[in-house]
Amino acid sequence: MSELKIYISQEKIAKRVAEIGEQISKDFAGESVVLLGVLKGAAIFLSDLSRHISLDASFDFISVSSYGNSKQNSGEVRMLKDVDQSMEGKNIILVEDILDTGLTLTFLSKVLKAHKPKAFKIAALLDKKARRLENIHADYVGFEIPDEFVVGYGMDYAERYRNLPDICIVP
Ligand code: IMP
Ligand code: MG
Repeated sequence: MSELKIYISQEKIAKRVAEIGEQISKDFAGESVVLLGVLKGAAIFLSDLSRHISLDASFDFISVSSYGNSKQNSGEVRMLKDVDQSMEGKNIILVEDILDTGLTLTFLSKVLKAHKPKAFKIAALLDKKARRLENIHADYVGFEIPDEFVVGYGMDYAERYRNLPDICIVP
């Protein structure tokens, strides 16, 4: 794994994730939230973020088809695993690793808003604005990054590197 270059260190990630958790705690003060993670990439972000949210919170996870083993998005999004609980009337925070072209989150926003939640917000650890094909933004963003392929802290390349504590660039 020596070919990988650290791009965002674990210390920087931890600090930013804590700030986002505190912001969410303020924004939803006195309410409960559902942290809805997009498998598998958001799992580590969600688990760290949740411990900085001082609200009544529950977890749910969804899974959508993604890039497979390539770096290219096919443009097609399919739901592989839907939510376990009803989202109606709840404060949903969709937790995602990267907002890239926006195809995935545009699809998920449509599906989830049809559940009639009370509030619907998106928390994305990373935002690659330059790659956007859909008009969508995240309410909470960890870091804006340029058009580079990154791994670690939950994110993979062909299912590898998810367990790296830092966010690294794949050359
Ligand atoms: P979008 O539909 O193009 O916005 O796709 C977002 C999804 O693509 C993210 O949830 C990631 O799973 C994946 N993805 C996009 N860029 C990267 C990257 O640099 N590294 C790893 N996965 C990525
Ligand atoms: Mg993903």
